[in-house]
Amino acid sequence: MLKGIVLAGGRGTRLHPVTSAVSKQLLPVYNKPMIYYPLSVLMLAGIRDILVITRPDHIGQFRALLGDGEHLGVSIGYAPQEEPRGIAEALTIGAGHIGDDPFALVLGDNVFHGPGLYSLLHTSAAELDGCVLFGYPVSDPERYGVGEVDAEGRLVSLEEKPAAPASNLAVTGLYMYGPDAVDIARGLAPSDRGELEITDVNIAYLKQGRARMVDLGRGFAWLDAGTHDSLLHAAQYVQVLEERQGIRIACLEEIAYRMGFIDAEACMELGRRYGGSAYGAYLMEIAETA
Ligand code: DAU
Repeated sequence: MLKGIVLAGGRGTRLHPVTSAVSKQLLPVYNKPMIYYPLSVLMLAGIRDILVITRPDHIGQFRALLGDGEHLGVSIGYAPQEEPRGIAEALTIGAGHIGDDPFALVLGDNVFHGPGLYSLLHTSAAELDGCVLFGYPVSDPERYGVGEVDAEGRLVSLEEKPAAPASNLAVTGLYMYGPDAVDIARGLAPSDRGELEITDVNIAYLKQGRARMVDLGRGFAWLDAGTHDSLLHAAQYVQVLEERQGIRIACLEEIAYRMGFIDAEACMELGRRYGGSAYGAYLMEIAETA
C-alpha cells in the first residue's frame, strides 16, 4: 500500500509579506487552503497514511487545519524540515514514515486537475518499479526539471532547469517511488545551489533504467501557486471550473466519501461543521445525493 508525503516547507520569500506570518501552502487557492489540492491527489491515489513536512514554526497551523486526519478517514502526521535544504530531504525526513513501502511525494503548492487522474494514479502505482514522474508540456521548460522519454515511457534524459531544454516536458511536483529512494536520497551530495535535489534522485533511477515518466497531456491542468501571479491564476482556474460545472475541485471531504474512507453520515456531519458556508452546503448535498 502506497504511503504519502506532502512537502510544504520553504521560505515563501517570493510571496512576502503575505507569507510573513502564514505558511504559503495554507494560503487560499480560491475557496480552499492550497494544501487541499496536493492532498486530494494523494487521497485519489487511495493513500491513507500521510506525512506533512513543513517548517517547525508552521506545524501548528497545519495541525489546526487537518488534525490527525481522522475526520477524512486518513492518518495525517507531521514532521519538521528545519531549513529548506532541498526537496529530496523530504525522503530522509520521511524515512520512518515510509518504512518498507512505496510512496508518493507531492509538493504542497502544486495543483493537478484533469480527466483520468484517478486511473492514471492507480495504473502508475500498480506498475511502480523504481520511480514514476509525471511530465507536463509547458512553454517555459527551462524553469523546471525537464525529461525525455522513449516510446515505452522510460525516462532517457533528465536535467534540472536546463538552459537548452531537450523537450518541453516539465517534471511536475508529484513523484512515486519505491522504498529504496530513501537510501538514494541519503547518498546525495548538495547541488551548486546547496540543495538535495529531487532531480538527482530521479537521475539515479534513470541510470538504473528504472525511471518512467507519464505524460499528463494537454487536456490536463498543472499549476503551481508559488508566486502572486501563479496563485491568482490557480484561483481563477478553480473559480471558473467550479462555477461553470457546479462541482468542487479538491474537496477533501467529498473525495474521502467517494473513496469510501468515510460514510454518508460522516460527510453530512462535516457539512454541518462548515455550516453557513457554501462549502458546508455542498458537502451536505453530496452526502444526500451521492
Ligand atoms: O514544481 C516542479 C519543480 O519543482 C520541478 O520541475 C523541479 O524539477 C524541482 O526541482 C522543483 O523545482 P523548484 O526549484 O521550482 O522548487 P522550489 O525550490 O520552488 O520548491 C518547490 C516547493 O517545495 C516549494 O513550495 C517549497 C517546497 N520546498 C522546497 C525546498 C527546496 C520545501 O518545502 N523544502 C525545501 O527544502
